[in-house]
Amino acid sequence: PRVLLLHGPNLNLLGERDRATYGSTTLRDVEERVTALGAELGAEVRCAQSNSEGALIDLIHATRSGDSGIVFNPGAYAHYSYALRDAVEVVASLGIPCVEVHISNVHARESFRHTSVTAPVCQGMVSGHGVFGYELALRSVLHRIAEWGA
Ligand code: DQA
Repeated sequence: PRVLLLHGPNLNLLGERDRATYGSTTLRDVEERVTALGAELGAEVRCAQSNSEGALIDLIHATRSGDSGIVFNPGAYAHYSYALRDAVEVVASLGIPCVEVHISNVHARESFRHTSVTAPVCQGMVSGHGVFGYELALRSVLHRIAEWGA
């Protein structure tokens, strides 16, 4: 199976931004680790990042041509983007599950981060496990894909 590892706004600055919250791992490190784990588990991982809501929607739609699942850190869009939520819902209804990842524990932070409008249309959400959360998310989405027989 092929999985899209998708990152939203400001996550291109991972490793530079607010290290106390997000750690010093860069986005490239995350992409390399997840890709390597995917290879170990027999999956191809495709990586993308955008700071734009519309571009993220297009990337989610594009999973219809050959991806079996998505691991998605929507950044702050998780808290208010109904358009991203709808995009995830559309591909989920076509059998492409999405697992949401937040590096930080969003529930331990400002109250506006306690809401995720995207999580309800995801298979599940991982938050507060640091970048290790991506491993959990990849394993989980691959488990779901195997169950569904994609
Ligand atoms: C984040 C949490 C969001 O609230 C924040 O806006 C981010 C990163 C995380 O990975 O912990 O950009 O998604």
